Amino acid sequence: MCGIVGYIGAHDTKEILLNGLEKLEYRGYDSAGMAVMNNQELKRFKVKGRIAALRERVPDIRTATMGIGHTRWATHGMPSEENAHPHTSATGRFTIVHNGVIENYLDLKNEYLPDTELLSKTDTEIIVQLMEKNCDETQSTVEAFRETIRMLKGSYAIGLIDAEDEDTMFVAKNKSPLLIGLGDGFNVIASDSMATLKETDQYLEINDREMVLVTRHAAEIQKLDGSIVEREPFTAQMDVRDTEKGTYPHFMLKEIDEQPFVMRKIIQKYQDENNHLKLDGDIRRAMQTCDRVYIIAAGTSYHAGLVGKQFIEKLSNIPVEVHVASEFSYNMPLLSDRPLFVFISQSGETADSRSVLVQIKEMGHPALTITNVPGSTLSREADYTLNLHAGPEIAVASTKAYTAQMAVLAILAVDTARAKEIALDFDPMQELAIAANAMESLTDQKETFDELVRDNFGTTRNAFFIGRSTDYFVCLEGALKLKEISYIQAEGFAGGELKHGTLALIEEDTPVIALATQENVNDSIRSNVQEVAARGANAMVISMHGLEQDTDAFVIPHVHELLTPLVGVVPMQLLAYYAALHRGCDVDKPRNLAKSVTVE
Ligand code: F6R
Repeated sequence: MCGIVGYIGAHDTKEILLNGLEKLEYRGYDSAGMAVMNNQELKRFKVKGRIAALRERVPDIRTATMGIGHTRWATHGMPSEENAHPHTSATGRFTIVHNGVIENYLDLKNEYLPDTELLSKTDTEIIVQLMEKNCDETQSTVEAFRETIRMLKGSYAIGLIDAEDEDTMFVAKNKSPLLIGLGDGFNVIASDSMATLKETDQYLEINDREMVLVTRHAAEIQKLDGSIVEREPFTAQMDVRDTEKGTYPHFMLKEIDEQPFVMRKIIQKYQDENNHLKLDGDIRRAMQTCDRVYIIAAGTSYHAGLVGKQFIEKLSNIPVEVHVASEFSYNMPLLSDRPLFVFISQSGETADSRSVLVQIKEMGHPALTITNVPGSTLSREADYTLNLHAGPEIAVASTKAYTAQMAVLAILAVDTARAKEIALDFDPMQELAIAANAMESLTDQKETFDELVRDNFGTTRNAFFIGRSTDYFVCLEGALKLKEISYIQAEGFAGGELKHGTLALIEEDTPVIALATQENVNDSIRSNVQEVAARGANAMVISMHGLEQDTDAFVIPHVHELLTPLVGVVPMQLLAYYAALHRGCDVDKPRNLAKSVTVE
């Protein structure tokens, strides 16, 4: 996690860095800092807290011509001013911002700098201190940088300034995301093009273990053996307006509202003019030839994977396993003869998923990534990519990416079924369009959820979400949404499991939200509702039209039974949003979290 940005050129360096950091705040927001070269002098500013605090701290410096900035999600060393980046070497010559984890920082310290006193508790500082040592030995910043990078193990996106060279920014990358943005008379570096889209839409990718010498007029990519790499820039497709809140109070609310549009965009992108599905032929063949699909994902994307398993197994008759990425290598299942790995990741950068991708690629297995960020690490390193087309998701709590993931998984399942000549008794694209309309009718009724929260959540410490069959998977997601942004302890349970232990937690007025969208389990989930109500719970049923009862708290419009998760989750997203709002929580940036989890 963490976000970095850098600028070299004659424009307003301070503003460009601060604006960029504000756009990167989703990557971490416990402390922030920046350093600029101003009239041959390096000035450094750091705060514990948000970019807004950094903005207040930095004085008016308009003459700065190079700078680097950082917004942090702490891994080594607690959030504090001293641990905030940029870090500077002992003499003050080298200053660095870093995103990633230097795994061998203690070994490097003990072996090369046993007598140097580190000023912070971070793994990053060792890099600048090693720069000093290596520069003393090589008498060349470029060689010292190369040597230092060679010594590092782990993940890094690095921007480094040498106070004795105002014309060059030293950049390197391994595993953590980093792009070089090319401008006319200036260049930028950024963890995400979103940070610097206002400056340029032309970007250069950097591969792992490459370093780049960035000046105002050039960006020279080098391998660690010193050879030069030629690479063409690409045009970032994002519209700068997609990265702004507009009239919304929070990105999360905007992104919840965008879901029907995202569904329609997905329908449009995955259909040709004759309304036939158009999926890459290679992906179709990979699905047809595999004998088992292994879905790998984390958090919300894992929850989408659980629903995706239903789609693929029920429609295309291929067995599917779903695995939490961070656990996969410890408990690697016995693989089938022809496995296909499907990685689901909004950001395409999740380190846990990437480490599985690296592992299975070494074993020679094919991989498909379903992501919102084509060009992200998981997308580049897999054989195939399916784009979510959800537009940038900025709120830390994932909403529109989750529903987009399920929609794309449904399309993948349908396409495979067609390729295998399995007849379907419904028109999937039409059903998706109906689901989009249903979502829209829910987002139009926000006040209902606002009231539901006011009347029922009060000061509760905990809440439960119960469902059976597919509804259970949606309940896992509903609980995750509520806990991550409102800090109410929330758990999702299979309705039938309650009596095996969890029922003990039900007290007077404990909120229990039950989801009832599946006809075959409607009676049984309602029995579970009776069980909790009999023990004092404040039970609220969200049901689907056609299955409702008079006492239900909310009824969602009828959609095809396979697609109910896409619609059933929307009330839960809205409940979480209003619960967080009424508790005064920072909806878009919940404590301790970050959007893109690039550490394992
Ligand atoms: C929760 C949430 C996370 C992510 C998880 C994986 O709202 O967003 O649980 O789903 O960190 O991230 P991606 O999908 O980027 O791999």
